[in-house]
This record gives sequence, structure tokens and C-alpha cells, in this order.
Amino acid sequence: MTFWFFRKKEKRVSEFTLTADLHSHILPAIDDGAASLEESIAMLKTIKEAGYNKVITTPHIMADIYRNTPKIIREKLTLLRDKIALQGLDIEINAAAEYYLDDGFLEHLTSGDVLSFGDNYLLFETSYMERPINLEEIIFEIQAAGFKPVLAHPERYRYISDLEKEYSKLKEFGVLFQLNLNSLIGGYGKSAKQKAEFLVKKGWVDFLGSDAHSVKHIEGIKKMKNLDIFDTIFKNNTILNDNL
Ligand SMILES: [Fe+2]
Repeated sequence: MTFWFFRKKEKRVSEFTLTADLHSHILPAIDDGAASLEESIAMLKTIKEAGYNKVITTPHIMADIYRNTPKIIREKLTLLRDKIALQGLDIEINAAAEYYLDDGFLEHLTSGDVLSFGDNYLLFETSYMERPINLEEIIFEIQAAGFKPVLAHPERYRYISDLEKEYSKLKEFGVLFQLNLNSLIGGYGKSAKQKAEFLVKKGWVDFLGSDAHSVKHIEGIKKMKNLDIFDTIFKNNTILNDNL
């Protein structure tokens, strides 16, 4: 008599934890993220399910499209915190910003009211297509103002073609890199995935971000946390999220 044993595949449990997120668009009706308080709450519930207990959300500040100010962002944060308390949701939320390097950026930087997070980290992004001509100068200005520049999703910039040369140059300037987790599962296309894998392999990733604009993005991260690549990131890189 033959016995057949079927063993159910056990759920993979990673030896690494990721409990703080530092890049998302969760505040309601402020940018291209959550459109309502209800959507903000739905996103936070999903983030909690994905294993996070702290969120530093980062609305866009862009001169042309999202003219957000620290005052507007703080008001929305208070609104969301009130709703979180009403719902009895157990998650810590703070707000910073994702600054776009445009003509208005230096004005924000010198205004004396900059939305940074953690150890004076300042999250910034550039155009996807064109490298700002004065990028080094702006990085220097950020540092001179007492902040540590963190480049949001370095893997998404199409103008970066010589990966080794261009990323290492930014690293030399003291720029920290925040990778989007969804890039590693192809969420932003083939080129972003290849660049993300390059950065992981090099050990050049400092922060991991959800860059969540909707519940869908967070579902991608849940999936991602069950893949081997999640462990590879932590083995090759010093990830600072959980120090925040
Ligand atoms: Fe973002």
C-alpha cells in the first residue's frame, strides 16, 4: 500500500522586520494619494496588516501642482489623527513632505519651516525625465541648512543611465537613498526594477518606502514581504527605517 503525504507549504516568516514607513501619500485630499478621510483610514488599516506600526506620511510639495505648505499638512494630520482616535486604530502617524526640486524649493528650504523627519532627514524627488542642472548645488544647500538629503525612489529616474557612476556620485555627495518596495516586484516597470536590484546588490539602500498612494500599493508590499528578495535587502544593506 502506498501512502502519499501532502505537506502544505508553510508560510514564510522573515527574520527581518520593517515596522516604520517614511514615504506615503495618506493624508486626505492633499495630493494624488488618499482622496478622502475614509480612504486614509482604509490605507492605514492595510499598512497595519502589513506589519507597520509607525507611518511618516509625505505629501507632495510641488510649485506647479500641489502647493502644500507645512500649515496645510499639519492641519490634515490633525484631522486624520482625530479620525484614527475615533476608530480606535492603533498606529502612530506623523507627517513630513516629499519635496520636488523646482523653482520654489530653495524658498521652502530657507523659510525656517521645513518638514523633515527622524534625524533631520529631508525627502526630495526630481523630475523623472531630466536631471536638474544644479542638482549638486541643491544637495549642498540642503546640507548647509542642516538636513540630510534622502532621494525618494532613486530607481525611478529615467535620466540615470550609467548606474555605477551616477549613483556612486550621489552617494559621495552624502545623499541617502530611499527605495520603493514595489519597484522590486515590477510595480514601476522593467527599468525601475533593474535599477532597484542594482542598488540592493550594491548595498546602497538606506530606507525602504511604500510610496503608497492607495490600498493597492500596500497590498503589493504585503506580497513583497513574503519573497526572498525582502531578506536579501536586509542582508546587503543597512536599512534605517526602524530607527525612526
Ligand atoms: Fe511619493
